[in-house]
Amino acid sequence: MAADGTPAPTSQPAYRNRARVAGLTIALGSIFSFLLLLALDVLAPSNNPYLGILAYLVVPLFLMVGLGLLIVGMIVRRRWVVKHAGGQPPPLLMLDLTQPRARRRLVLLMGGGALFLLFVAVASYRSYHFSESVQFCGQACHVPMQPEFTAYPHSAHARISCSACHIGPGAGWYVKAKISGLRQVYAVTFNKFERPIKTPIKNLRPAQETCEQCHWPEKFTGDLDRLYTHYLSDASNTPFTVRLALKVGGSDPTHGPVGGIHWHMNVANRIEYIASDDRRQVIPWVRMIDRQGVVTEYRTPKFKPDPAKDVVHTMDCMDCHNRPAHIFQNPSEAVDLSMMLGKIDTAIPSVKKTAVEILTKPYASAEEARQKIATGINAVYAKDPRCSKLIAAVQEIYRDNFFPEMKTDWKTHPNNLGHKEWPGCFRCHDGEHKTADGQQSIKANDCTACHVILAQGRGEQSRQWNPLGKAFEHPGGDIGDAKCSECHTGGAL
Ligand code: HEC
Ligand code: HEC
Ligand code: HEC
Ligand code: HEC
Ligand code: HEC
Ligand code: HEC
Repeated sequence: MAADGTPAPTSQPAYRNRARVAGLTIALGSIFSFLLLLALDVLAPSNNPYLGILAYLVVPLFLMVGLGLLIVGMIVRRRWVVKHAGGQPPPLLMLDLTQPRARRRLVLLMGGGALFLLFVAVASYRSYHFSESVQFCGQACHVPMQPEFTAYPHSAHARISCSACHIGPGAGWYVKAKISGLRQVYAVTFNKFERPIKTPIKNLRPAQETCEQCHWPEKFTGDLDRLYTHYLSDASNTPFTVRLALKVGGSDPTHGPVGGIHWHMNVANRIEYIASDDRRQVIPWVRMIDRQGVVTEYRTPKFKPDPAKDVVHTMDCMDCHNRPAHIFQNPSEAVDLSMMLGKIDTAIPSVKKTAVEILTKPYASAEEARQKIATGINAVYAKDPRCSKLIAAVQEIYRDNFFPEMKTDWKTHPNNLGHKEWPGCFRCHDGEHKTADGQQSIKANDCTACHVILAQGRGEQSRQWNPLGKAFEHPGGDIGDAKCSECHTGGAL
């Protein structure tokens, strides 16, 4: 009997139990599903990302919800008991070990607790690994990451995890990444992410802590031999190749001669710059601090300092290698590659020109592109027996490099390595960057400063070597003072 004379409650009203029962059911259910999924993942490993998402993301989430409900149910019950049963809260835990029932309960509680701790340990270990995996980064939020995830297997870093570059070692950046991940979950849930994702990424982890974990900059030396194969836009798709000795060089005197392209790498000297646009394609001011501490400042005639807005960046790997893992090929280079690999038959008349023109046109969706590529090619080559293979090859190029749903393709993401389709090196090495007295300029116009042309030309011509280097014979005629990227935009010329 309670104080006011009402009979003491013998059972809780149904709704108060419901939360506890539901919580317990959900919690037990999720532990069971987790064990099942874990067994599946361990015994029959597959690359299906949804298994991981389910096991290490959704199920633990359900467990949390279940435990939450259970706790809420218990609190509600306690309150109810306090209110209706005389203001005295029941003790939290009461075990009278002389009672066999209590002993059984204790054993059950300890066994359950140990199992639960084991569950938490395995789940959090696997979740941590899963949350750093390529599958999680690339496929958990499918739409926004699709372009990068699609391009990534075609890069030199196809076997490097996204997190090796985007997070790197150490707990600090892991936590930072997860916090920014929460913001991304919000953006994806409410469809608020930007299309395309803008680069350069602000707050990208400095290259010293990511790239340089694997690429030890002190070790770079020497030249690289590179062959560039193109096909001209004439009826016979004449092959045109350039073979370069790229003076990659290095910047550590204890490992080799200092100089060449990797001289910029900040091992002993530092280069700083100010960009006047968000994409860092226009660089009107550069400062060089060499190993003796001598400072040289270069600027273009148009540069007007604005201390309130100017941000001084220190040049690092990413200022040249800004597309190391997700290269969206432009139509011209993608078609060249497919022709070189034999996916597109080089004997089809004017096929280079036709394919590039079709790929350069804008399409609203991937499906529209698929259809219009087929009709476009059919309109030109319908009678040709090689037509269907050609359509498939061009559609494949589109699928791998164009993402209308994310408004992403080669035009949205400049590639700063080189100078043909984007200003790249010529953002600084264009002859316009001079010291205040006008006496010195950043090396430019000298085509042999960065590479030597060992061989070049159409067809057989390109087999004639000259180790001393040749002057560039441009297949598109005289170019005067124009920058390469003024004409070569990557699309149809
Ligand atoms: C070798 C290092 C590396 C790896 C591996 C890598 N990235 Fe990147 N990622 C970069 C760099 C560098 C940038 C561009 C930085 C810039 O321009 O600011 C970038 C940019 C991005 C962007 C911004 C949009 C864009 O296309 O530039 C996204 C999204 C992205 N990466 C996702 C991924 C995903 C998903 C994976 C794994 C499938 C991955 N990255 C693997 C280095 C890497
Ligand atoms: C976890 C190790 C790792 C990290 C981190 C890493 N790389 Fe690499 N990188 C590799 C491997 C492995 C290769 C492939 C080497 C090969 O194919 O010979 C490679 C190749 C390259 C190449 C040659 C590309 C080519 O087409 O031949 C460049 C350039 C490069 N990495 C730049 C970078 C940059 C820039 C970063 C930082 C954004 C970076 N790497 C981060 C391991 C790494
Ligand atoms: C001034 C621009 C620039 C900077 C800065 C730069 N690189 Fe490079 N790097 C190049 C060029 C150009 C090549 C040759 C590209 C090619 O093969 O097409 C190259 C080649 C490479 C290669 C391939 C070497 C090989 O032998 O295959 C690696 C790896 C590399 N860079 C890593 C780095 C890393 C790591 C950093 C930062 C510490 C860095 N680079 C900084 C321009 C740069
Ligand atoms: C942010 C400006 C900037 C960019 C971008 C840049 N450089 Fe440089 N580079 C400099 C400066 C400054 C110097 C030193 C002045 C000089 O030697 O003329 C230099 C020097 C060099 C040197 C001569 C090193 C030596 O032996 O003394 C080479 C080679 C070179 N750069 C190649 C490249 C290549 C290749 C690229 C593009 C992948 C590139 N640079 C992009 C600013 C830049
Ligand atoms: C500041 C350094 C630098 C200077 C100066 C320079 N180049 Fe290059 N060039 C490069 C780099 C780096 C690449 C390789 C790009 C890559 O690997 O994608 C390249 C590539 C090329 C290619 C091959 C491109 C292709 O896709 O076929 C040609 C041709 C070329 N350069 C011609 C020239 C000519 C002509 C000049 C003089 C007007 C010149 N370069 C001056 C750095 C330079
Ligand atoms: C005035 C415009 C113009 C300028 C500037 C220009 N090109 Fe070209 N280029 C052309 C034309 C037109 C063709 C012939 C295209 C064809 O037949 O497919 C061509 C063809 C080429 C090709 C072979 C075909 C291809 O698609 O790659 C290379 C390589 C090339 N140019 C490199 C360069 C380099 C490097 C520079 C800068 C040093 C440069 N071009 C500057 C117009 C230009």
